[in-house]
Amino acid sequence: MTLTEEQLDTFHRDGVLMLPGLFSGDEIAAIDARLPRLFAERCPENFREKSSDVVRTAMGLHLRDDFFARLVRDLRFVEPAKQILGDVDMYAQQVKVNAKQAFTGEQWQWHYDFATHHHEDGVPLPLALNLHIFLDEVNEFNGPLVFIPGSHRNGPAPTSLDTVTTSYPLWTVATDVVGPLVERGGLYCPKGPPGTALIFGDTMVHGSPANMSPWPRRIFSLILNPVSNHQTTMQRPDHQHHREFTPITPLGEPLLDEPSRQSPNSLARASGMARQ
Ligand code: SIN
Ligand code: MN
Repeated sequence: MTLTEEQLDTFHRDGVLMLPGLFSGDEIAAIDARLPRLFAERCPENFREKSSDVVRTAMGLHLRDDFFARLVRDLRFVEPAKQILGDVDMYAQQVKVNAKQAFTGEQWQWHYDFATHHHEDGVPLPLALNLHIFLDEVNEFNGPLVFIPGSHRNGPAPTSLDTVTTSYPLWTVATDVVGPLVERGGLYCPKGPPGTALIFGDTMVHGSPANMSPWPRRIFSLILNPVSNHQTTMQRPDHQHHREFTPITPLGEPLLDEPSRQSPNSLARASGMARQ
């Protein structure tokens, strides 16, 4: 899966690129089928909302489930990342699902990913790419991500550490910085069905409001970073920034190559036993 010149131009101009229909319904179902067990675990990798016990983000997923170990090696991530970064070795810096559950999912403040990975983990340069897959339909009601196109172009904006607003400590961008960035670039809110993907860069300013709707908004997120740009401080737990710098090896087969890896629903459909 390679990006067209037009898609690359959009990525470089806006700092974010939407790829509709990148993952199939069966693949999303296979991811879905694994989440209840992972979300039910009481472990440090599962961060809960500030105001409730609901899981906000489930991290370290490729070390907790073999399907996610395959997913992070999928060519649909690796190939576009190499087109953008050059043919460099990359490691999985963070692998998570942000849940944003119906009615209870809380906001992600204005931020860009590099600020936290630089200040907390000592990542030298803003090279990492964040690759998302929508696991639910994302619409204007269920806490969609909002981006400021072009906010990556003048380098990293000033940030400060916010340990108060949500349960997840984050280096955030203040409103007096966000205002002028939005004046220049406007706001962009990618919406779409499950299977839609996004790619965005490490200094792209983004955030998302609370989910007041009755619909969940779960997103899978993989951050790939060049091995040559790996974290230097190792002070946060591994699930917040992985310490395995062995390069990702691209998956040499389809994600759903064996029936045993498919979800119960897709297996039922494949054998003509789908519930009517
Ligand atoms: C969100 O899930 O809304 C925020 C995700 C991110 O900052 O990568
Ligand atoms: Mn982010």
